[in-house]
Parts: sequence; C-alpha cells; structure tokens
Amino acid sequence: MVVPGSQHIEDKMYNPPAELQRDAHVPDFNSYLALYRKSLENPEGFWKEVADEFFWKKPATGPMLQYNFDMTKGNIYVKCMEGAKTNMCYNVLDRNVKERNLGEQVAYYWEGNSPDHHMAITYRQLLSQVCRCANVLKQMGVKKGDRVSIYLPMIPELVYTMLACARIGAVHSIVFAGFSSDSLCERIMDAQSRILVTADGVYRGEKLINLKQITDEALEKCREKASSTVTKCLVVKHHALRAKGGAACNKLQTPWDSECDVWWDEAMRDAPEECEPEWLDAEDPLFILYTSGSTGKPKGVLHTVAGYLLYTSLTFKYVFDHHHDDVYWCTADIGWITGHSYITYGPLANGATSVLFEGIPVHPHVGRFWEIIEKYKVTKFYTAPTAIRLLMKYGREPLQKYDLSSLRILGTVGEPINPEAWHWYYDVVGRGKCPVVDTFWQTETVNVLLCFVLANGKHLATFPFFGVEPTILNEHGEELEGEAEGYLVFRRPWPGIMRTVYRNQERFENTYFRKFPGFYVTGDGCRRDKDGYYWITGRIDDMLNVSGHLMSTAEVEAALTEHSAVAEAAVVSRPHKVKGECLYCFVTLKDHREFTHTLVEELKRLVREKIGPIATPDFIQNAPALPKTRSGKIMRRILRQVARNEKDLGDLSTLADPKVVEILFSQRCEAA
Ligand code: WTA
Repeated sequence: MVVPGSQHIEDKMYNPPAELQRDAHVPDFNSYLALYRKSLENPEGFWKEVADEFFWKKPATGPMLQYNFDMTKGNIYVKCMEGAKTNMCYNVLDRNVKERNLGEQVAYYWEGNSPDHHMAITYRQLLSQVCRCANVLKQMGVKKGDRVSIYLPMIPELVYTMLACARIGAVHSIVFAGFSSDSLCERIMDAQSRILVTADGVYRGEKLINLKQITDEALEKCREKASSTVTKCLVVKHHALRAKGGAACNKLQTPWDSECDVWWDEAMRDAPEECEPEWLDAEDPLFILYTSGSTGKPKGVLHTVAGYLLYTSLTFKYVFDHHHDDVYWCTADIGWITGHSYITYGPLANGATSVLFEGIPVHPHVGRFWEIIEKYKVTKFYTAPTAIRLLMKYGREPLQKYDLSSLRILGTVGEPINPEAWHWYYDVVGRGKCPVVDTFWQTETVNVLLCFVLANGKHLATFPFFGVEPTILNEHGEELEGEAEGYLVFRRPWPGIMRTVYRNQERFENTYFRKFPGFYVTGDGCRRDKDGYYWITGRIDDMLNVSGHLMSTAEVEAALTEHSAVAEAAVVSRPHKVKGECLYCFVTLKDHREFTHTLVEELKRLVREKIGPIATPDFIQNAPALPKTRSGKIMRRILRQVARNEKDLGDLSTLADPKVVEILFSQRCEAA
C-alpha cells in the first residue's frame, strides 16, 4: 500500500521470477481468482477443506461460519465450527511431531541480542518445553479460561509460555516488553490475570532493561487501584543465565518477593514432560491482545481457537508461499499481533522453520539483519517499513558484505510503505528478484488484503485474501462501485476476525459496527483503482501510526495532562523520515506556569513512563490556546497543518477564535 498522492508512480506491473512461479501455491492471477471465487461462493466447502488438515477431537456440528454483522438485527457475533473440539497447541506441535514426522526439524533458530547467544530448537524439544511449562502453570493453579499475562522479551520462553497456555486452555495476554509499568498494570487489571510471566532483565541493543522491576511496579500499581488478581509471578532467569560475563551482569538488582515470585528454571526442573491437552470448544478464547483505542483506553481484542488456527495457517501458507525447505524470518516482536500470527501460530501450524530474533537491527552493527539472513540462509523475510527506512540510511555497504542470495520473497506490514522504501527493499535487499508482499491487516483482523506473491503485479496495491470481501463506502454509507475512494469496510467475516472486545461487547459493536450497519469498519481509508486493486490511504480516525505501532491521540493526551502544569493537550501526527509518523504535541499550560526546556523534558519523560518509549513525543509546542469550534471541539485538522507548516488553511469560519491559528504558527517547532 502506498502513501496518498504517489500512486501514479507505482502503477506499474512487476513479474515474479519463473522458478518461483513454477512451484507456487498460486501460480498465476487466474488461479488466485478461481480460489478467491470459491472462497466466497462456497465458504462452507472452502474452509472445510482447510479444517481437514487439522486434528479435531470432535467434529463440528454447526456450519463453518455463522454471523450477524448488522447491529439493527441484534448482537454482533461470529462463530466458526460450532460444536467442534480441538486444541491449538496439539495442532501446531503434537500433530507435527507425531503425525507429520517433523520432530527433528528445527522450529526456531533463536538468535539473541548478542551474536554470541543462539540456539536451535526442534519441534520435539519445543513440545517437551511447552508441556513442562503447561505443567508448571497448572501447578500454580491455572485452569481453563484463566488469563495469564506475559511480559517477556523475544526469547524461547515467550513461545513456550504462550503455547503452554493454549495447551491447557488458559487465555494468554501478551504485553510488549517495551511497555511501561502503567501500561502493563492497565492490561493486567483489564484481563484480571491470575499469573504474570516475566524475566529478570534483557538487553535491547546496548540498553539493559530491568523487566522484573517494571513488573513489580506494575503489580504495586494494580494493588493500589484494586486488589490485584495476580497470585504468582514466574520469572525467567534470562539476563543472569544467558548474558553471563562482564560487569554489566552485576548491574541488575532483581527485586524478589518470596511469597509471590517463582524462578522459571527451578519450577521447570521437576515438571513432567507429558501434558494432556485440554480439548476446547472451537469458539473458546485463545488469547487477548490489547490494541490502542480512540478513547485512550486499550481494547482487549479477543481471538478464538478454531477460526484463528484455520486463518493464520492458511494466510501463512499463501502469503509467503510456504514450502518445506524454507527458512522464514519475521522481525516483529511477539508482543504485537504480527508476532502472534506470523512468528508463533501461522508458521508452526505449517511446520515451518523460523528465526526468532531477540535483538534490534543496528546492534552490534548496522548489518545485523543481513548477517542473520546469510547465517541461516533465510528464504522468506517479513519486516516493517520503519525498519527498512532505518536501514536505508546506512546505504548499500552494510548489505554488500553478506550473501543474501537465499532470499525468495520479502514481506512488509504495519503501515503504508513509501515508494522510496519499497524500491530500496525490492532493488537493494531483493536484488530485483524477490516479490515484495505488502500485507494490510489489523490486530482485529489478521491478514486481509495483500499482494499475492504471484497473483498480482502491482506491488504497492492489493487484493483480498480468500474469504474476505472488502468494499468501499462513502460518508453516507453508500457502496461505491468501480474506481472509488472512501471507507474500507468488510461485508462478511472470515474465520480469523476478532470475536469481541474482552469484557466489553458494547465497545466492540460501537467501534467496528455502529457507523455502517452490516459492515466491519476498519478505520482506514482506501482507494480502488480501475483494475480492481485496493490501495490503503491511511487511518481516517484519531489514530497515529508511529514506526508501525498504532496509538491513539487520546492516550498520549491523557498522559500529558497528568502533568501539574498542563491544562490541556492535543496530539497530532507529523511525517517522519524513519518512523513514518511521529508525535507532535500541543500543550496549553495552567496560569502562571512557564514553558521551559525542563518542562518539555519532563513531559517527554512522563509519556515514556505512562505508555512506553515508543510513544515518546518528537515535538512539544506551547499552545496558549487550541483552535476550537464554537461547540468546543478541537480542530485537529488545523493542528496537523501547524505541525506540518501547511499554511493553506481553507475555511476557518467554524473556529471560535481564528486568531489562535496565527499564534500557533508563530510558535511552531521546527526541529525536534
Ligand atoms: C496500519 C498491525 C498500510 C493500518 C498488523 C491498520 C497498514 C493498522 C498496513 C493496524 C499496510 C497495517 N499498509 N497500512 N501494509 N499494515 N497498517 O493493529 O492503519 O497494530 O489499521 O496491526 O496499521 O495496526 P495493528
């Protein structure tokens, strides 16, 4: 997908290499169309065939999909394979080891933050670790339906824990280990988790992060706000064991509460390697994952077992044209949906071999990604535009030291990719030989619109995945035919769509279904061209996308107004060379408070503490007043223009006090 205004540059077709095409699951556009039509015309037969690859303890009694998308006709719901019983963990591990003879195949090459730390984990070893962890959780009192919060870096134990939850029917709620203690506390409280799994500490690049300390602060905050539901905290000795040597090791003080805290290695030592999976209903919850909501309070997106299994496994197979000899690497963090679907569940369901990377792209040197691709002979590589833009800055030289000839397919996700980054990815990383699959999706949807590797030729625009029926509506909810631009919505569900917002069905319905009854509303704008390709044009609500991380203006504003000097705050996005978008904040101070450099630093620190480093504002501007309508609504459009220094303001007649705009322009920040 592409940034608005630049489509015309990229209205060009690219053809994949013949050898890729020969063996592909979807060898050409007509095969894509045939499969796509089948998926819409006969969803029952289409999804049944997918389900037949997996193990069902009891077959379904209901249809493959049942739903209501129309609020005027009752509650919104989606159900897949009602009556069936299965287990996700059994399907992604036991089935591969026992039925498909993949026990000795590597499931993950784990590569640590430091190149000295690495290990290979086979499917058999993974199964055994997962079963032991499942037994540890059971011993701690975790039962089917209980929530387990996981606050871990990208280490094998993260995968063990999530699959252990899936095995015993516990619902995992993974919180990205870059979030602050406030964010962690909020997510623990909303999920009412019984157990928290974390690690002592972790290096991200050069920086040592004391995860256990953040965890303790989060639990303390939960206790202050309400009685905490967390009874035990399981702590992986990651830093102390793996990052041995050097004085740095001694820098970390791990706070310890012997009532609550349990060391992972001690608990795992005696745990049995056998654990019977819990046979779950198809629609039992698999996990909750929090995503930003426009009110500022994160939404617990809930996914269920059977539908998510079918959809992640099928999307992985087709999006990356998976073959058994591939080595696949997705650089996302499992703390985000991309990691859930395309590091853990999708690849494992296909018996794939993946790289699991703990580190960052520029440590210990800026060629780290390319070094890893050479080391493991990675064939399929999936990353985000922000990472590409970051690495582009260092030019071609860091790549030229490594052999990247193993690469076959490149993928991108998370935000619109700008043509410059796309070309660098295609020409420099892929040497013009690897199709780039741009995948558009959301925490709520799993992969929905994408460039099929071989099925279509315009690399920045997409077609719907099987079973997905997009359409474009105008402001009045009327469907637009042919070439059109408007709201991207979906007319019917597919197995992997979210089921609800955890403990808040009302919010689920209001957020996604109220605006246009009968449709799931994505919140993104979209254009359909004359050939039927979809081009995402970006968010059309109050959400920001910083380095591929979605956040709401409201949550940053709430953090800023917690400062005693701030009366009011408004946050908008401003384009950024690497991050895509960055945060530009306007603050109105209380009477007699002064806008100083120290205050700006305090505010930045506050946002980091409240949300996490990803939300750190790049710009904070003094705003003696904000542009408001007569009814008091902040006009963000104007603030965006001030942030971007766009002087052509159009109609200002709805403003209560147009003078405000001049003042804001005179005080705008040029540089961060
Ligand atoms: C944006 C991440 C353009 C979009 C998987 C969406 C994209 C939001 C793309 C979801 C893409 C994601 N092109 N925009 N390929 N992928 N987006 O929930 O605005 O973290 O609504 O899921 O990211 O972000 P989320």
